[in-house]
Parts: sequence; structure tokens; C-alpha cells
Amino acid sequence: MSTETVSNQSSAEAHKRRKVTTARLAEMKARGEKIAMLTAYDFSSARILDGAGIDVVLIGDSAANVIHGFETTVPITLDQMISHASSVVRGVQRALVVVDMPFGSYQGNSLLALESAVRIMKESGAHCVKMEGGEFIVESVKRILSAGIPVMGHLGLTPQSIYKFGTYVVRATEDDEAAQLVRDAQLLQDAGCFALVLEKIPAHLAERVAKQLHIPVIGIGAGGGVDGQVLVMHDMLGINNEFSPRFLRHYARLHDIMKDAFERYIADVKSSSFPNKDESY
Ligand code: KIV
Repeated sequence: MSTETVSNQSSAEAHKRRKVTTARLAEMKARGEKIAMLTAYDFSSARILDGAGIDVVLIGDSAANVIHGFETTVPITLDQMISHASSVVRGVQRALVVVDMPFGSYQGNSLLALESAVRIMKESGAHCVKMEGGEFIVESVKRILSAGIPVMGHLGLTPQSIYKFGTYVVRATEDDEAAQLVRDAQLLQDAGCFALVLEKIPAHLAERVAKQLHIPVIGIGAGGGVDGQVLVMHDMLGINNEFSPRFLRHYARLHDIMKDAFERYIADVKSSSFPNKDESY
């Protein structure tokens, strides 16, 4: 191996170890490097994810669905989000850790929003927060930022508003809603958001927003013309084999792998083949 190859490899390794910050995400957008983001809710999976080189770990309020078994994200509490986030933080050394502010923890007013964001930062050790909504959260975004807490925005399908939408179908397919989304995205950037998630909107619209904004735009069900992608870990691992929307790519089929392991364990216990002599003291 040449000296040049060795030094290229070690600079690639150093690059992989470098901590991800909000400034680094901006650099990644500027040089066209895609941002990879996934959700995590516990220490062990966060550790694997961070070791794999993920850029951003999101403690999503999707924990309400995939961890707690609720039908919507509405019921999860601030205390529950803080508990998940502090477990994840202990498993992460390199990635940027973002925590969803749950329903009810910021919609009231900007002081409530600031108090909730401060609790998340102090009690979990995470690096930033994420909030759903456009114009109506701008004052809260500014107030949270004034305390030095970076904020990620979230537009398009915003699951905390499911009872207003009534359905999880693709958003902003009509001109009015698309124009509002473009305005909201600009407002969030102007208010100081460091990045924006766009969920389940037409790919051409998401691409237009990503081109218009200088902050990174991370999509979920928003096509490939944005600056990065996010998925829910349990979905991409195929833990729930009944959830298969068009935007989801399965990277594993853990439901079947786990079920098979559980079935073999149960059979081994029932037949007394586990534990054997080597597995006993
Ligand atoms: O809660 C969540 O997991 C999210 C992602 C889908 C972006 O907000």
C-alpha cells in the first residue's frame, strides 16, 4: 500500500470520527454531501447506530408508536421523551442528537416552549430539539434559539396534527398548501432553524425547497432531491412487518428473524435442550 493511500485512509477515518455539529451539517450541504439520519430510542441501538457512522440521531416522538404502542404520537410525554433521549445520549459519541418536542410541550406559548426545550437539554444531554409546524411556531423558535438551543423544523405531514389532517396521506399536493409550505420553510430558516425535515410531500416540491434554502433539508417520503434522508429505525429494520408505505426501504426483516429466534428458544426450553452442560455452572 502506498504512503498516499495510507494517508487518504487515515484522513477518511479521522473524518468519520469527527463529531457532527450543526455547523458541520451546513458544510455537508454546501459541498453536496448527503446527510444520513435515523431515529433511536435506547442506549444499545444508539451505540450500534453511532458506530455505523450515522450523522444525526433523532429521538423521534415516533417512540409513541414503535416503543409504547400508541396509535398516534399525541400521547407521549415530555418526561418519556427525556428518558429515551438520555438513554440514547449515553450511547452516542459522534452523531448530532436531536430530540422531538412532544405534543403539548410547545404549542401553548413561547415561554412554555423554552421551558420544555431547556428541560430536554439539561436532563437528557442532547444537542438540539425538533418542532413541528410553520408560522405558528416562529416566535417559539426564536425564543428557544435565544437561549442557545439549536432548533430543527418539521413541515409537510406533521403527525402531531393527525386529528386536524384526519389521514396520513401525502401533503401539499394542492397549490395552496404547497405555497404555504414554501413560505413556512423560508420563515423557519429566517427564524434561525439549522435544518428542516420535510415529511411525505411530492418530490418536486421538496427539491424546490431544498434548492431555495441554505439550511439542510432532510426528507422522509420526500424524494431524493433533498440534502439528506431520515427513517424510523424500527421501520427500516422491518420490526413491524405490517407497515410498508411506498417511501420505506427495508434494510432488514427483523420481525421474522426475531420471531424465529423466540420460537427456537421456546422450543429449546420446552424440550429441556437449553441449557446444556456447557451452559451450566
Ligand atoms: O418522530 C419521528 O420519528 C420523526 C421522523 C419521522 C422525522 O419525526
